[in-house]
Amino acid sequence: MFLAPRRLCSFGSSAKFLKTIYPSNILGLPTSAKMSLKLKNARRIEGLDSNMWVEFTKLAADPSVVNLGQGLPDISPPIHVKEELSKVAAIDGMNQYTRGFGHPSLVTALSCLYEKFYPNKINPNKEILVTVGAYGSLFSAIQGLIDEGDEVIIIMPFFDCYEPMVRMVGATPVFIPLRSKPVDGKKWSSSDWTLDPQELASKFSSKTKAIIVNTPHNPMGKVYTKEELQVIADLCIKYDTLCISDEVYEWLVYTGNKHFKIATFPGMWERTITIGSAGKTFSVTGWKLGWSIGPSYLIKHLQTVQQNTIYTCATPLQEALAQAFWIDIKRMDDPECYFNSLPKELEVKRDRMVRLLESVGLRPIVPDGGYFIIADVSLLDADLSEMNNNEPYDYKFVKWMTKNKKLSAIPVSAFCNSEAKLQFEKFVRFCFIKKDSTLDAAEEIFKAWKNQKS
Ligand SMILES: Cc1ncc(COP(=O)(O)O)c(C=O)c1O
Repeated sequence: MFLAPRRLCSFGSSAKFLKTIYPSNILGLPTSAKMSLKLKNARRIEGLDSNMWVEFTKLAADPSVVNLGQGLPDISPPIHVKEELSKVAAIDGMNQYTRGFGHPSLVTALSCLYEKFYPNKINPNKEILVTVGAYGSLFSAIQGLIDEGDEVIIIMPFFDCYEPMVRMVGATPVFIPLRSKPVDGKKWSSSDWTLDPQELASKFSSKTKAIIVNTPHNPMGKVYTKEELQVIADLCIKYDTLCISDEVYEWLVYTGNKHFKIATFPGMWERTITIGSAGKTFSVTGWKLGWSIGPSYLIKHLQTVQQNTIYTCATPLQEALAQAFWIDIKRMDDPECYFNSLPKELEVKRDRMVRLLESVGLRPIVPDGGYFIIADVSLLDADLSEMNNNEPYDYKFVKWMTKNKKLSAIPVSAFCNSEAKLQFEKFVRFCFIKKDSTLDAAEEIFKAWKNQKS
């Protein structure tokens, strides 16, 4: 019998019917029968079921809440990017499957773009893989290159999927935190947060298969300097370790800072997978296209994973993305090039967020890159007595703020492993790639908050 998708979604009306064709526990409905072991989850996903995006996105879905939580631009994507997509839909051939490892015009555009930054040529067919977002690249890289028993170094705080992806292949994450230098009353900057080189060296061993580096960094906004990346590169070479370099915010670097690609350091191309994202590059997170770049003998393992899992990405989106890239590749030195105009636009928003956060007594860490700002919220006397005491402070704070101030953010301890949650639980993350009206609404909330305090 055919069930219209809409009916399947509206659980209430269909539940009775569904109960007759599926065991009740599959539907998540109460059951008294003991669950068969065959219906249990695979061991590799044991303990990975809770996901803070699900929880906090649901909280922020209330239309009266100003959402500075999830990294979701509400600014308009660039016109040329939208126009290219609407043109592509009219071309019949662009609506069918394309080459599995990346649509030909897109991998050509990517190789042409990135060759400007690498000392070597980039083979579009063998050294690039187009994936379902940067998530897809992280997944293919970890599945294709990391084995059970391997160790993978992850720097805290970290983009939250790194740890579960490493655990799903049976490898062991080895964590190291960024630590802040004392700032003595000065403005706190993301560059004050660094790795201790000795501590980092102590994490490497013969078991280390890879390190995951993220620059510009989510959630701290840190842009690793050349010297900092050199320390990592030297250790990768010394211990013959892979480097997975997540550079999805590569164009979003603010005045006085420069983005360096670790793959361009001597001896590093050979061992690095560099990951990018269309969603972050062109403010089209819904397109879910990303890419991995690296030597063919590494990329071919990512290709194997992709070929046997999702096979290929959406053709019209890839073609539109290729055309958008060509437009910006031709004007890379012009201020209108999106790679130049977006960071300029965001730097103004970043500075506005700094002022707003300071105005209510929060202590922001001014980011050098990316589109997030984190702030120490412990200085505020928020009354969290009604919140669930088993949660870290920042979880409670964000839930309290969403409910009482109608403003949402993301707790930074969600970007840490369970042991380090305490170290970061005084921080929350705000996203500032938002249109002025959204930031105006946030400003109103901050002003009212300030007035209540005084
Ligand atoms: C550091 C980092 N890596 C990867 C991703 C995933 O990017 P995509 O949406 O292209 O899958 C994100 C998204 O927020 C991110 O912040």
